[in-house]
Amino acid sequence: MSNPLDQYRDSHHEFQHDSTINAVEDPFKFFADWFSFADQSDEMEANAFVLGTTSLDHQSSTRIVYLKEILEEQFIFYTNYNSQKGQEIEVNPKVSMLFFYPKSSRQIRIEGICTKTDESVSDDYFNSRPRGSKIGAWASHQSDELSSPTDLTDRVAELELKYPNDIPRPEHWGGYQIQPTRFEFWMGKKSRLHERIVFDQTNKGWKIYRKNP
Ligand SMILES: Cc1cc2nc3c(=O)[nH]c(=O)nc-3n(C[C@H](O)[C@H](O)[C@H](O)COP(=O)(O)O)c2cc1C
Repeated sequence: MSNPLDQYRDSHHEFQHDSTINAVEDPFKFFADWFSFADQSDEMEANAFVLGTTSLDHQSSTRIVYLKEILEEQFIFYTNYNSQKGQEIEVNPKVSMLFFYPKSSRQIRIEGICTKTDESVSDDYFNSRPRGSKIGAWASHQSDELSSPTDLTDRVAELELKYPNDIPRPEHWGGYQIQPTRFEFWMGKKSRLHERIVFDQTNKGWKIYRKNP
């Protein structure tokens, strides 16, 4: 009997790269290189990544968020500080990030420490957003149970009246910055001898080594 997943297999993951990864010494430059390659290769949403957090009782959870900027070697995304991820980051700031680029058979794993950005960074980004997104940041009690199907739309209607003009940034909404302590760049090979190159942060700078696939 055929496996129902077979139809999906081999449509992606065409391992096109048989050249060896040329490691540069700076993992941020390495990241920038792979990110721009992915962006130009029409990868869908090259800036979307899986964010992994853990709860107080060590339950891991993941979700996609958008990388919006890299500022002073910190990866920045925006969210609701009271959300599940926000609460988990409070109790354990050690988070993980995962970028997957199927068209180029690449994956980037990053581990790091997550803290809130300066308020000015959050303000600048919030102020650049369209009105609907600003209202949404106030209206959505992200990750809380909805008390009724119209709960959210009722709040949106109230907020539209409350803020006919400018909308201030809610304190519970803003940026997080992730300072990487480890990067791993993975590239699929036709030979199946896939390449993994790791950058570990040490007192003396980045330690670079390769791992078995
Ligand atoms: C493509 C994509 C991009 C997303 N970007 C964000 C984002 O930048 N910030 C955010 O808070 N949620 C984003 N989300 C929604 C999150 O995946 C998630 O549902 C939400 O943040 C609540 O997560 P939590 O309950 O674990 O805190 C995105 C979802 C998708 C599918």
